[in-house]
Amino acid sequence: MKPKYYITTPIYYPSANFHIGHCYTTIIADSIARYKRMKGYDVCFQTGTDEHGQKIEMKAKEAGVSPKEYVDEIVLNAKNLWDALQISYDKFIRTTDEFHVKAVQKIFTKLYEQGDIYKGEYKGLYCTPCESFWTKTQLIDGKCPDCGREVHEVSEEAYFLRLSKYQDRLVEYIESHPEFIQPESRKNEMIYNFIRPGLEDLCVSRTSFTWGIPVPFDEKHVVYVWLDALTNYITSLGYMTDNDIEFQKYWPADLHLVGKEIVRFHTIVWPVILMALNLPLPKQVFGHGWLIVNGGKISKSLGNYKDPREYIDAYGVDAVRYFVLREVPFGNDGNFLEESLINRINTDLANTLGNLVNRTITMACKYFDGTVKYKNQNEELDSEFLEKINSLDKIVDEKMEQLHVSEALESIFEVLRRSNKYIDETMPWILAKEEEKKDRLETVLYLLLESIRVCASLLEPYIPTTSSEILKQLNQTDKTPQFIDKHEYHLSPAKILFARIETK
Ligand code: MSP
Repeated sequence: MKPKYYITTPIYYPSANFHIGHCYTTIIADSIARYKRMKGYDVCFQTGTDEHGQKIEMKAKEAGVSPKEYVDEIVLNAKNLWDALQISYDKFIRTTDEFHVKAVQKIFTKLYEQGDIYKGEYKGLYCTPCESFWTKTQLIDGKCPDCGREVHEVSEEAYFLRLSKYQDRLVEYIESHPEFIQPESRKNEMIYNFIRPGLEDLCVSRTSFTWGIPVPFDEKHVVYVWLDALTNYITSLGYMTDNDIEFQKYWPADLHLVGKEIVRFHTIVWPVILMALNLPLPKQVFGHGWLIVNGGKISKSLGNYKDPREYIDAYGVDAVRYFVLREVPFGNDGNFLEESLINRINTDLANTLGNLVNRTITMACKYFDGTVKYKNQNEELDSEFLEKINSLDKIVDEKMEQLHVSEALESIFEVLRRSNKYIDETMPWILAKEEEKKDRLETVLYLLLESIRVCASLLEPYIPTTSSEILKQLNQTDKTPQFIDKHEYHLSPAKILFARIETK
């Protein structure tokens, strides 16, 4: 039986303005999911949308439609974007899905009945025109961050989740499972900045708006945000339904991939919910950095927003995927600059990869009418090259095990650069001048074709279209990531993979 691998992205707030930063989490998760499938895992890759809350209620009102109509359209838009980015998700959960609503109600009731949720009073700073609660730190100059008007303190009846009760168990778990929160720096931040100073119980219901899952035994309350959102990871698998086969199979999650600002909810609130439900905790929560533009957040109001589809249309989906995966060392923030994207396309994709494929196939067509076999005419300088090709699979595997996606890609490009250097070293055009060097020439080209085949196969998780286009041009279906001497290449003239982009 195949080993299972359950990977999730956060569920996204439905927004008409999904930006390249939102795509970042999903593209990385996709590359990891594809990688695991390639390695033979039975993968469940889940994403979705987090559709309840006051903001949505207000936006729908402004648009003159019901909240459900409002989110339906945006969700369609999100799915189109994920398709355009070739996100190979297996499940897409919406928190408005009937099964989710019912399961959340059951979870809420269970936690209430066993005393982990209790009724109390929520005190907060309220902006009446916006009908929104804010915390002190969210205010800008003491005023509502949305409209700039005065806020005043109000209190309302609310249900709370007893985080405080689980504080010691949580610290003990985090400390005895070093892989649980990654990278390491985020783990320390959670323990020292958030847990050790003392956990406050979390408000999990509201009465000030209605667009949410009703608390089943107290219908003037709706379930508030995180209890609704986080439980998506188990309700989608059928937890608390008649059919929980997938839950039995895939839970606990192997990886929750999340942006750094929501690590807190995934490593404090979520474990507490799971402990209260007596369920195992996810194996790992990885908090990645942000994609920023010129040092700042991406937003329409800052004027640095572009619909990700514009980048896809202009440069192609694989260029966007490659850039996002390659440019940002995982865990840190990374700058998204169109100039750097173009630079990556020109140097890595057009030059290193595209030229290598083009030159090699063109030489094979020119010198051997496109038919190349292994002629066993190796020279000393081949052994280091062969060693590089054959050790690549293991290197990529080690990097991917640590989720160092950017480094995994870099190691593949190192072999591609080595292959270009091999052409310079062997100078096939000189070999072609001497009839007695014909077998040596064919051996050289065969090694290059095999190197390209291995690299193209390993590139599938990151740039799937390019990977399959290269294998098509090579006329090969064998994706074994090792040099094999038994292939026969029958090649037609090469097609350009990436055109260079001229800049002013
Ligand atoms: N709905 C919550 C998550 C609930 S999960 C149980 C949420 N949604 S979100 O739409 O605001 O964010 C979704 C993901 O996009 C998060 O992982 C967030 O970090 C990520 N990003 C949003 N902007 C980003 C960048 N500029 N860069 C990288 N990731 C960013 O939070």
